[in-house]
Amino acid sequence: MVSQKKLRAWIEVLQKVYAENRQYLIDLDSAIGDADHGINMDRGFTNVQADLSKTDPPDIGAMLKTVAMTLIRTVGGAAGPLYGTFFLRASTACAGKTELQAADVVAMFEAGLAGVLQRGKAELNDKTMVDALSPALVAMKRALGNGSDFRQIIQQGAAAAEEGMKNTIPMLAKKGRASYLGERSIGHQDPGATSSYLLLKTAVDVWG
Ligand SMILES: Nc1ncnc2c1ncn2[C@@H]1O[C@H](COP(=O)(O)OP(=O)(O)OP(=O)(O)O)[C@@H](O)[C@H]1O
Ligand SMILES: [Mg+2]
Repeated sequence: MVSQKKLRAWIEVLQKVYAENRQYLIDLDSAIGDADHGINMDRGFTNVQADLSKTDPPDIGAMLKTVAMTLIRTVGGAAGPLYGTFFLRASTACAGKTELQAADVVAMFEAGLAGVLQRGKAELNDKTMVDALSPALVAMKRALGNGSDFRQIIQQGAAAAEEGMKNTIPMLAKKGRASYLGERSIGHQDPGATSSYLLLKTAVDVWG
């Protein structure tokens, strides 16, 4: 079970994680993009943190809506609107809730991913964040169906996201700026898949 406080802690720690991984994400994006992914994620979650500290949202849905609106408002490029959409759909899935059961957490990720897919139109193996988020969801749904406990569900999601992230290395990019490189995008890990893995890994660290 995830209380509203623990959900809030996840977002708070994500700010630290993206600050710590700023240069790593910049380096990944400089290989196949425009070197701003670390800047975008760090700025986005720093703004989220500032906005959340000014409000006292009544439920998890309202909290995640603030996260979404701040990301959409303050982060440009592809990642801002995509992660913004992820959190906006996630917020709708958690509307009115002050705690989440395992099935609610899986439903939250499922709604978020559906938003990313709809907005970005990426498919699996296009070398994007979808290649981390989608296997994570599959693993979490499987674990939920198996009757695994909450910690195992999130852990398996993070493990699948990590594998998905690594699997982007040999892929040819089909979406975003990296796709302009064609064959030269091969051999580099996708920055967005990496920030998505960090989203899941931080959930394990904070909730597990
Ligand atoms: N259509 C898409 N669907 C899903 N994810 C995408 C899409 N386009 C780009 N991405 C993800 O966004 C990441 C890049 O985010 P960044 O913050 O660098 O924004 P950007 O520089 O505007 O993006 P890009 O260079 O990909 O257009 C990529 O690594 C990829 O994972
Ligand atoms: Mg970029």
